[in-house]
Amino acid sequence: MQPVIGRAKGFEDVVACLGIRLSVFVAEQAVPLIEEVDDYDATATHYLACLGGLAVGTARLVRLDGSTGKIGRVAVLAAYRGAGLGSSLVQHIIANEGAAYAVLVLDSQVTAIGFYERFGFRATGGTFMDAGIPHRRMERTRERNSPAAY
Ligand SMILES: CC(C)(COP(=O)(O)OP(=O)(O)OC[C@H]1O[C@@H](n2cnc3c(N)ncnc32)[C@H](O)[C@@H]1OP(=O)(O)O)[C@@H](O)C(=O)NCCC(=O)NCCS
Repeated sequence: MQPVIGRAKGFEDVVACLGIRLSVFVAEQAVPLIEEVDDYDATATHYLACLGGLAVGTARLVRLDGSTGKIGRVAVLAAYRGAGLGSSLVQHIIANEGAAYAVLVLDSQVTAIGFYERFGFRATGGTFMDAGIPHRRMERTRERNSPAAY
């Protein structure tokens, strides 16, 4: 079954994105709800990965400034991991709306750094805590990464 990856279209899709985040970050990883949903959600581009019509993965892209976009809230429901959905979401953002930015950044959970390195992101700073989970800032510069890099 081929996944369908794309921008969330309308209110129902955004609710589906938030539902996945509540399952993954709030229920599974114990991130406080008040920290999981933030002001960026009002302006972010939200993405949905669907499998057989079921919403199973999400991510968002936030405009930090004219040259910098921030990928975040990348999540796939536990039962659907390891099938390439997380990769497809990140690749979709890089190849579409993310391509408008010279630099893409993200704050990766330390355990997920290897996942993002596959797409040309490199850790840039030290470890910091966010919602009780160790993170590192990662960065991907458009010029340094041809499409062949991912
Ligand atoms: C991280 C996450 C989105 C990846 O989604 P996924 O659909 O399982 O990813 P993929 O199937 O595309 O994985 C691609 C590869 O990355 C690897 N990978 C996945 N998560 C990884 C991690 N945390 N660290 C290192 N490698 C990882 C997989 O083993 C897979 O390797 P393979 O191709 O050799 O089999 C998913 O594990 C998830 O939702 N985790 C919980 C939420 C989370 O931690 N999000 C990241 C916040 S920074």
